[in-house]
Amino acid sequence: MLERTLSIIKPDAVSKGHIGDILARFEKEGLQIVALRMLHLSKSEAEGFYTVHRERPFFNDLVEFMTSGRVVVLALEGQDAISRYRSIMGATDPAKADQGTLRKLYAANVQNNAVHGSDAPETAKTEIAYFFSELDITG
Ligand code: CMP
Repeated sequence: MLERTLSIIKPDAVSKGHIGDILARFEKEGLQIVALRMLHLSKSEAEGFYTVHRERPFFNDLVEFMTSGRVVVLALEGQDAISRYRSIMGATDPAKADQGTLRKLYAANVQNNAVHGSDAPETAKTEIAYFFSELDITG
């Protein structure tokens, strides 16, 4: 199925200079970049994005991390883009991620884990709409 998913290249990967490597990987894997922007999230933007995790013990640290520097947000499109991107990212915790995945390659730990990806079609729709209007997404 042709799907779209949201990707975030997180502050750790941006500050370490991995934007280009990660974008190249998307292109190599046939995930088409249909929208892209760089931003420095405010506290309320990060809290809003991660609102499903607000009761988790790691929430405040996660918000602090996500606002610590610039991020790149992208909408990716392709056949089964949601599950394909998730396998390219690897497990949330890089210690448990498969060799060659983005998190194994670029993440330091379960919080500073280099990239985010939507986990399901409904989430992908909400997350893409959080950062992009329909007009921002190229046809
Ligand atoms: P992400 O895929 O963006 O979704 C939620 C984020 O919360 C996750 O990546 C990590 O950055 C962070 N996270 C998830 N689990 C933990 C944890 N156990 N401890 C700290 N941070 C976590």
